[in-house]
Amino acid sequence: MVLTALSLVALLLPGALAQPSPDVQRRIAQAIANSANVTSPDYTAFVNPFIGTDNFGDVCPGASIPFGMVKFSTDLTGYAPAGYVTDPTQKIRGLSPLHDSGTGSSLGTYGNFEIMPLLCPGGFDRCTTSLLARERFRKNNTDEASPGYFAQTMDNEIKMEATSTRRAGLERFTFPKGSKPYFVLDLANDLPNSFAGGQLNIDPQNGRITISGSYGSSFGPTSFNYRAFACYDLLNGNQQLDEYGVWTADIHGLDAKGLGLTQLNYTRNLIGDHYQSGALFSYKGTPSTITIRVGISFISTDQACSNAETEVGSSSFEDIMNQSKALWNEKLSKIELDIANTPPNVTEMLYSSLYRSFLTPNNATGEAQGQFLGTSSFYFDSLYCSWDTFRTFYPLMTLHSPVEYSQILDSYIDAFRKRGWMPECRANNLPGWTQGGSSADNIASQFAINYHNEAQRLGIDLNELYSALLADGDVNPPEWNIEGREVNVYKQFGFVPFAVLDTGSTGRQTREGSRTLEYAFEDFGIRQVAKLLGHSDDEERYLNRSLFYRNVWDPSVVSDGFKGFMQKRFSNGTFAFTDPANCSPNDKNESRSCSLQGDNVNGFYESSSWEYSWYAPHDTAHLIELMGGNETFLDRLDHFFDKGYYLAGNEPSFQTPIGYHYANQPARSVDRVRQVVFQNFGITPAGLPGNDDQAAMATLLIFHLLGIYPVPSTSQYLILSPFTPKYTIHNSFLGTSTTVTVQGFDANSVKETIPRGAAAYVKSVSINGKVTSGRCHFDFYDAFRLGGNISIEVTANKSSVNNCGEGAGAIPESLSTGGFATLR
Ligand SMILES: *[C@@H]1O[C@H](CO)[C@@H](O)[C@H](O)[C@H]1NC(C)=O
Ligand SMILES: *[C@@H]1O[C@H](CO)[C@@H](O)[C@H](O)[C@H]1NC(C)=O
Ligand SMILES: *[C@@H]1O[C@H](CO)[C@@H](O)[C@H](O)[C@H]1NC(C)=O
Ligand SMILES: *[C@@H]1O[C@H](CO)[C@@H](O)[C@H](O)[C@H]1NC(C)=O
Ligand SMILES: *[C@@H]1O[C@H](CO)[C@@H](O)[C@H](O)[C@H]1NC(C)=O
Ligand SMILES: *[C@@H]1O[C@H](CO)[C@@H](O)[C@H](O)[C@H]1NC(C)=O
Ligand SMILES: *[C@@H]1O[C@H](CO)[C@@H](O)[C@H](O)[C@H]1NC(C)=O
Ligand SMILES: *[C@@H]1O[C@H](CO)[C@@H](O)[C@H](O)[C@H]1NC(C)=O
Ligand SMILES: *[C@@H]1O[C@H](CO)[C@@H](O)[C@H](O)[C@H]1NC(C)=O
Ligand SMILES: *[C@@H]1O[C@H](CO)[C@@H](O)[C@H](O)[C@H]1NC(C)=O
Ligand SMILES: *[C@@H]1O[C@H](CO)[C@@H](O)[C@H](O)[C@H]1NC(C)=O
Ligand SMILES: *[C@@H]1O[C@H](CO)[C@@H](O)[C@H](O)[C@H]1NC(C)=O
Repeated sequence: MVLTALSLVALLLPGALAQPSPDVQRRIAQAIANSANVTSPDYTAFVNPFIGTDNFGDVCPGASIPFGMVKFSTDLTGYAPAGYVTDPTQKIRGLSPLHDSGTGSSLGTYGNFEIMPLLCPGGFDRCTTSLLARERFRKNNTDEASPGYFAQTMDNEIKMEATSTRRAGLERFTFPKGSKPYFVLDLANDLPNSFAGGQLNIDPQNGRITISGSYGSSFGPTSFNYRAFACYDLLNGNQQLDEYGVWTADIHGLDAKGLGLTQLNYTRNLIGDHYQSGALFSYKGTPSTITIRVGISFISTDQACSNAETEVGSSSFEDIMNQSKALWNEKLSKIELDIANTPPNVTEMLYSSLYRSFLTPNNATGEAQGQFLGTSSFYFDSLYCSWDTFRTFYPLMTLHSPVEYSQILDSYIDAFRKRGWMPECRANNLPGWTQGGSSADNIASQFAINYHNEAQRLGIDLNELYSALLADGDVNPPEWNIEGREVNVYKQFGFVPFAVLDTGSTGRQTREGSRTLEYAFEDFGIRQVAKLLGHSDDEERYLNRSLFYRNVWDPSVVSDGFKGFMQKRFSNGTFAFTDPANCSPNDKNESRSCSLQGDNVNGFYESSSWEYSWYAPHDTAHLIELMGGNETFLDRLDHFFDKGYYLAGNEPSFQTPIGYHYANQPARSVDRVRQVVFQNFGITPAGLPGNDDQAAMATLLIFHLLGIYPVPSTSQYLILSPFTPKYTIHNSFLGTSTTVTVQGFDANSVKETIPRGAAAYVKSVSINGKVTSGRCHFDFYDAFRLGGNISIEVTANKSSVNNCGEGAGAIPESLSTGGFATLR
C-alpha cells in the first residue's frame, strides 16, 4: 500500500521525491512488513537517515556511531549547514568526516578535511582542484544511507561510501572501469569558510597525509578558533600511490599545482579572502575501488593517526559497518514497539527519531582542547543549544539512558569547574551564543530530580551540581552572550529590563521578554534542587524568582480580542509595547529581525509574544488566571493554533498543544497533538517542520508518538494518547522495563482528525494494576523508575472523559496551586 501510494506521488510530482534513492523507502517498508512478529528485529532497518535533509531540517544523514565525533557526509553547495541536502540542484564538493546534525547556523558547521575523487583525463596539472571547478551534480535518485553507512554517486559515476568509528573511519571510492583515480584533499576549506591557518604534510613513502588547522566557530564569536587534525592513510591492500603534490587556487584565476611538493604551511589570512589549498594525488593503474582510512583528533596529528590505528586498524569496510550497526541496534532497542499493530510510518518515524536522538552531542572524550585539555571528565561537544534540548532531549534520556545522560552532564559540570558557568551552546569546542540564558540548569535539575538516588553511582556529585546551578543563577559573567545570565539586573528589577545601564558586564541587550521567561524557568530548576538538598533559604529565594515571569505580563495589551501578553519592560517599570503578532508566522514584515541580531527589538527570541506568552511550565494554573480563567484560556489556545501563531518547529511552543490539560480538558490536547504530528511530521526528507535542533524535534516527536510528555526539571509526565498499541522502554541501568499498553487501541484513530467512533481519548490509567488518580499525569517514580506495566484505556466517547478526573491533584501541578510541594 505504502509503495503504491509513493509511486503514485512520484508519477504526479516528478522531482518531489528525487532524493534519496527510492530503494531507501522501499527497503524500510519491506523491513517493517517483515518484522511484524520478530522478537528482536534489526532496528537499523527501520531508520530513514534522510528524514530532515530537506525543508531546512539540517539533519546530517552521514555515517556515524551513536554520539560519534566523526560523521561522514558529502558537502553540498547552497544552504547546507550539515553538509548534505537532498536538493538535486545543488552540487557536491567532496566527502568530509566532521559534521553536526540539526544545527541551523547560517554558514554551516565543520566540513573540514574534505576529499573529492576526480577523473583527470588531462593529467595532474589539469585536474579540477578548486572548489568551483571540482563541484559536481549527483547521479539523481541514488543517495543511500543507513545507520553507520553513507553513499553518494556523482554524475561521472564515481561512487563515494563511508563508515565510521567514534573518531575515525573508512572511505571507499568506486571509479568507472578503466579510469585512473585522482583525489583532492582540502586543507583550507570548511563549510563556514573559517580557516585561520594550518599545515599539510604528505609522506609518500608511508602513503600518509596529515593535516592540522585552526578554524572558526559556527555559532559563536568569530574571534574564537578551534584546532582540528586529520590523518589520511592512502595505502590499503594493493593500492599504490602514483603522483602526489599540492595545489592552490582562488576564484580570480589562480590555479597552481606543485607536483612532488609535500608541504603546505599557511598563517591566518588577514585580508579576509578564503584560501583554497590542499593535496592532490593519484594511484597507479586503474583499480576500480580505493579505500582510504581517516583518523580525526582535536589534539594532534599523532593522535589522529593513532585513533585510526586503534579504532579501525586493518578492519575491512564491512567489519566497521557491522560494528557500527551493532552499536546502533543496542541503542535503538531501548524502545520496542508492537510493530505488527503499529502504522508503518509511525514505526519509521519513531526509530528514525530515536536514531537522531543518539546522533548528538558528539562524544569527544579524550579529545578536549583549550581549557579542557587533559580533563579527567567526559567531554561532549556540539551542545547547541541547551535552550533547544532541555525540553525533550534530556527528559527522553531520563527514561532509557541515565548513564549517557550522566556523562554528558559531567561535561556540563566540568565547564563550571573550568570556566565558572555551565555551557549553553558549546559548538566546535568553543562557547557559542546563549539563547534563553543558562538552560543547562534545567538539564542538571532534570537529572538531579530523577536520579538523585543513583547520582553517586552515576559519577555525579549532587553538591557540585548544585554549586554549578548557583553559579549560573547568581554570578553575572563578564559576557553573558556566551555563558551564564544577565542576573545582576534581573535580580535587581525582577525582570530583564530593556535598555538598562548594566555596568558590570556586556552582552547584547535584546530578547528581554523571552530571557525573563527562560530565566524564571531556569530558577524553577534551581528551586527544585535546592529543595531536594534541603537548602531552604535558596529554595525560597529561587521559588520567588521562578515567579518573575509574572513581572513581564502586561495585562493591558490586546491582540485579536485576547487581553494580556508578555512584553519587555523598561527598568522604570513601564512596558515597551511590541505587537504580540510580531515575529509570528502572521507577521507580514519580512525585514524584521527576530533572532540574535542587534536590531531585534521585538523582545522575544525567535518567537512572538503570542507564542512566548504561554511559557510558564511550572505555573500554568496562574497563567490561566492571568489570561482570564479556564474558558478564555481554552479559547485562546484554539485561536493560537487555528489562526496560525503556533510554530511546530520552535522550542518555546513544544508544550503548548498540551496546554488544554491544565484547563482540565485533556481530550482536546489529544486532538491537538494528532493534528500537530500529521501537519508537521512525516517520513520524507521534508518530514520535519524545520531544523532538528540536535534532535530536540526528534525527541518531541517521540514523546508525541508514545503519548506522554515531560515537564522538565520535574518527575511529572503528562498523559496523551499513544500512536501505537504497545511499547516497552528498557532502562538497563535501573534494570527495569516498562510496557505501556493501550487498551482499546484503534489504528483508525491515528489520523490528523480522530474519526468519530475511533477510540483515542484516555479514560483511565493504571500502573502495575493500580489506577492512577486522574488521567492527566503520572510520575517517573511510580512508572518508569520501577518498571512493569502501564495500561492506558482509551475510549471514543470524548465528552465522557474530557477532564482530568476527580480529586485534588488530578490536574497537572503548578506552583501557585500547591504543586511541586514534595519531591520524590
Ligand atoms: C503475525 O502473527 C499474527 C498472529 O500471531 C498473524 O495473524 C500475522 O499474520 C503475523 N504476521 C506476519 C507478517 O507474519
Ligand atoms: C538532477 O536533477 C536536477 C534537478 O532536476 C538537475 O538539475 C540535474 O541536472 C540532474 N542531474 C543529473 C546528473 O541528471
Ligand atoms: C609554518 O610556518 C610558521 C611561520 O609562519 C613556522 O613558525 C612553523 O614552524 C612552520 N611549520 C612547519 C610545520 O613548517
Ligand atoms: C556483517 O554482518 C552480517 C550480518 O550479521 C554478516 O552476514 C556478515 O558476514 C558480516 N560481515 C563481516 C565482514 O563481519
Ligand atoms: C564516550 O567515549 C568514552 C571514551 O571512549 C566512553 O567511555 C563513553 O562510554 C562514551 N560515551 C558515550 C555516551 O558515547
Ligand atoms: C519576592 O520577594 C520580594 C522581596 O524579597 C517580594 O517583594 C516579592 O513580593 C516576592 N515575589 C513573589 C512573587 O513572591
Ligand atoms: C520609563 O522609561 C521609558 C524609556 O526611557 C520612557 O519612555 C517612559 O516614559 C518612562 N516611564 C515613566 C513612568 O517614567
Ligand atoms: C518592518 O520591520 C523593520 C525592522 O523592524 C522596520 O524598520 C520597518 O519599518 C517595518 N516595516 C513595516 C511596514 O512595518
Ligand atoms: C479551572 O478549572 C479547574 C478544574 O475545574 C479549577 O480547579 C480551577 O479553579 C479553574 N481555574 C480558574 C482560573 O477558574
Ligand atoms: C502515514 O501514512 C499514511 C498512509 O500513507 C498517511 O495517510 C498518513 O498521513 C501518514 N501519517 C503521517 C503521520 O505521516
Ligand atoms: C506485567 O504484565 C505481564 C503480562 O500481563 C505480567 O506477566 C507481569 O507480571 C506484569 N508485571 C508487573 C510488574 O505487574
Ligand atoms: C458518552 O458518555 C456520556 C457520559 O458518560 C454518555 O451520556 C453518552 O451516552 C456517551 N455517548 C456514547 C455515544 O456512548
